[in-house]
Amino acid sequence: MHASLALLLFLVPHLIAAVPTGFAPGISARSSPSTAAVSQDVVSSELTRPAFHARAVYCSTASVTALSCGAPCQALQGVNVITAGGDGGETPRFYIATDPSIQAVVVAHQGTDPENLLSDANDVEIAHVTMNTTLFPGAAKGVEVHDGFQATQGRTADLVLSTVKSALSSSGFKTVLVTGHSLGAAVAVLDATMLKMQLSSDISIKSVTFGQPRVGNQAFANMVDSLLSGFVRVTNQHDIVPIVPPELLGYEQVSGEIHITTVDSTTGVATLVSCPGQENSNCADSNSILNVSIANHLGPYFNGISFGAAACPA
Ligand SMILES: *[C@@H]1O[C@H](CO)[C@@H](O)[C@H](O)[C@H]1NC(C)=O
Ligand SMILES: *[C@@H]1O[C@H](CO)[C@@H](O)[C@H](O)[C@H]1NC(C)=O
Repeated sequence: MHASLALLLFLVPHLIAAVPTGFAPGISARSSPSTAAVSQDVVSSELTRPAFHARAVYCSTASVTALSCGAPCQALQGVNVITAGGDGGETPRFYIATDPSIQAVVVAHQGTDPENLLSDANDVEIAHVTMNTTLFPGAAKGVEVHDGFQATQGRTADLVLSTVKSALSSSGFKTVLVTGHSLGAAVAVLDATMLKMQLSSDISIKSVTFGQPRVGNQAFANMVDSLLSGFVRVTNQHDIVPIVPPELLGYEQVSGEIHITTVDSTTGVATLVSCPGQENSNCADSNSILNVSIANHLGPYFNGISFGAAACPA
């Protein structure tokens, strides 16, 4: 309550500055394509394993490396963590692992405290800048991404790329899964883009993210859509992180939204819909930046899975 109020007070001046007179935040004039139900089979086969990784990466590097991070690690039996690092601050935690259950090399990135994410997304380094052409050699002119998100991704990019290459070669797997929650989701979409540009075309790059903010401009969203077919970003009810930074500042979501409309508080079972297009007004795009729900950003998402340090042993 107190945290939400502080956040709201923080955001309001930005909104007033960003919103031209006559516009109401969160209300889109466009009509969006209809949603379609997502089955529980898709939740178990496509979304749950990425969520387990995006959850475990919040735990300490030592505990994840030893697969001794309590329930989050017990859900990841058989996984072999190859490299893990980060400081939980300027460089969020990350790991690269092999996961035989999905025959994939996995890259997972930790998120940040939601209030830090919202202040980063809205304030400090709000500008979108051109992509680093060393990491993203295929980025076309006009493609721009959030300065702060790109800086965070750049701190681990070289290690991620070299470790993924060696893990693919030693495991023989042909698939890379990239995942993360919150800021970790922003880093994940950048990593997936980098890996798609840099790895050979017989490697399949899959990415599933949770509570992902907008990462770049319209040209970036279009580029990601064309490079990463099958990309999925899960949005939870009234979470506002997926609608920051604002479209009015030139940001646009990538396609692939799966939106959680309700979560049964007794069974943990979520109702989900797929939302065609980049910004679908039947889904997270209709959320109001004035109705801040930190709870929906952290979870539970489906089947009791929440993100953040709370699930990790002290
Ligand atoms: C671009 O990425 C390369 C490789 O990580 C790095 O050495 C270089 O400093 C980056 N350039 C900028 C401008 O950040
Ligand atoms: C605001 O968010 C809460 C969840 O935190 C939700 O229950 C409520 O329906 C939302 N209100 C509006 C007007 O969207």
